[in-house]
Amino acid sequence: MPHEDTVERAKYEPLRKPAEPVSEALETLPYGLYIIGSRDERDKTNGMMADWLMQVSFKPRLVACSFENDATTLKNIRATNVFSVNVLPDDAKRLVAAFAQPQSAAKIKGRSEEASARVYDKLRDVPHSRGEQTGCPILDAALAWLECRAEQFVPAGDHTLVVGRVLGGAVLREGEPLTQRALGWSYGG
Ligand SMILES: Cc1cc2nc3c(=O)[nH]c(=O)nc-3n(C[C@H](O)[C@H](O)[C@H](O)COP(=O)(O)O)c2cc1C
Repeated sequence: MPHEDTVERAKYEPLRKPAEPVSEALETLPYGLYIIGSRDERDKTNGMMADWLMQVSFKPRLVACSFENDATTLKNIRATNVFSVNVLPDDAKRLVAAFAQPQSAAKIKGRSEEASARVYDKLRDVPHSRGEQTGCPILDAALAWLECRAEQFVPAGDHTLVVGRVLGGAVLREGEPLTQRALGWSYGG
């Protein structure tokens, strides 16, 4: 499994958190599991695991995704105004493990200076192409993909909600989409 040693599992495993009723209630909310593709102003691409994503308008077609304020992906979207959404099949658990870490190791507190300086190319071993309209990564393994242009950045506590207009998209194959529950990790609470 790529980068397995660096996967930050402990941060997301609900069983390791002390029981807290509100957190437990929030953790019951069902989510899909997506890889958000982005690129920076120098065209360096990135992929990020996200579950806080949903459609928020029919006309125009808009989706919203909530990003940690220090995510490289958010920085990229602010710089280029574009992102992609990759919907994965439910047998893609090994593939998504490559994305359970930040591009910049400095995002994880408490690491040594040397470890913090590391920058991961999460897409290095993951076959993908680039979306025609945005240049953002579209994974070969995706069930479906969307290309989006960011239209609003809404501050939301320790996250920022990005509302994106859907520019294009397609279903690549049939199958069941991967969910957070199927993955067995929790981001919520
Ligand atoms: C199951 C799961 C779901 C996640 N969902 C989100 C999410 O919706 N939004 C978010 O900002 N981070 C989410 N994360 C955390 C990001 O994947 C993580 O912070 C990532 O390191 C950010 O990558 P980047 O800095 O390379 O953009 C999730 C993590 C896991 C394990």
